[in-house]
Amino acid sequence: MAKVLVTGGAGYIGSHTVYHLLRAGHDVFVVDDLSRGRLESVEPSRLQQFNLLDTERLASLCRSERFDAVIHFAGFIAVGESMRLPELYFRNNVSATISLFEAMDAAGLRRLVFSSSAAVYGEPRGNPIREDSPCAPVSPYGESKLTVERMLRWLDLTKGLRSVSLRYFNACGAEPGSGLGEAHEPETHLIPLLLRAVKTGRPATIFGDDYPTPDGTCIRDYIHVSDLAAAHIAALEWLLGGGATETLNVGTGAGHSVREVIAAVEEVTGTKVPYRIGPRRPGDAPVLVADPERLGRLFGWQPRYRSLREMVRTAWDFEKTRENFRGGNG
Ligand code: UFG
Repeated sequence: MAKVLVTGGAGYIGSHTVYHLLRAGHDVFVVDDLSRGRLESVEPSRLQQFNLLDTERLASLCRSERFDAVIHFAGFIAVGESMRLPELYFRNNVSATISLFEAMDAAGLRRLVFSSSAAVYGEPRGNPIREDSPCAPVSPYGESKLTVERMLRWLDLTKGLRSVSLRYFNACGAEPGSGLGEAHEPETHLIPLLLRAVKTGRPATIFGDDYPTPDGTCIRDYIHVSDLAAAHIAALEWLLGGGATETLNVGTGAGHSVREVIAAVEEVTGTKVPYRIGPRRPGDAPVLVADPERLGRLFGWQPRYRSLREMVRTAWDFEKTRENFRGGNG
């Protein structure tokens, strides 16, 4: 059993990971300022509500609790917003992470699992994408994640901080029966938006159908949030076992077009999705599919969910429980 500090543990992926950490018998503390997290996603007794930029408070928590490791989710995630507010993204995703590094150093804490993103690759030359593919972010969001990955390399060399950076592809779904799910506000992600279109009858927008893909819509690698959570626990165990610093893709290795996602939503909900075709969204690469071979080889990790329909079904079961769309979830 490990004692783990989880930053951003009230958010979508963070709260699922906390849920699975607790089930695996670990002890968990969450720091989240709830600027985008959901209070109801975390047991109040496990939550400390403050911003990571408060280095002193963070350092004193790390010193007093003597954590074995940190899993660092806290950060902003919307690519489009980062194009409008780059300073906010560099402050929240880079400056706040430096504050965390300082607090960890003050407490002699040297193991970290970091939420990175496929956004570090920008527009890749080929798919599936391996971890050694060139990184050329096309948004401040992607740049912020790559900057932290690069800092982690130096902190390993200079301070012996061992880390695993997990480059997520498209997280989706919800852990059945957990009460947790995807509820960002405003929502920008495809699957919850399609489910809301079904619920409200208000059409969703497909961002472009003239991409160089078989049906003209963008292809993504959708990964169930519980499989993502399992990758974090595997990364934690790797570090606790003395594993070296790593950077790993987390995806299933299978790509699905926007039209295929719509078909899956229609099958699961039994309802036609109302939608219209809109212009392309700036910054969207035509195809982003992970090569997750390294994650499987090092950690023995394999996704439990491979069927898009099953992933969508878990998202729909969560969406049905929501009365309205107010109250954000980072
Ligand atoms: N899409 C639509 N209509 C919408 C929303 C999305 O057609 O209303 C399309 C997008 O153009 C894209 C696909 O659906 O082709 C998936 O879009 P999402 O916004 O759900 O996800 P992204 O692929 O843009 O982003 C995800 C993560 C980011 C991460 C990125 C890395 O949410 O945090 O993958 O590739 F940076």
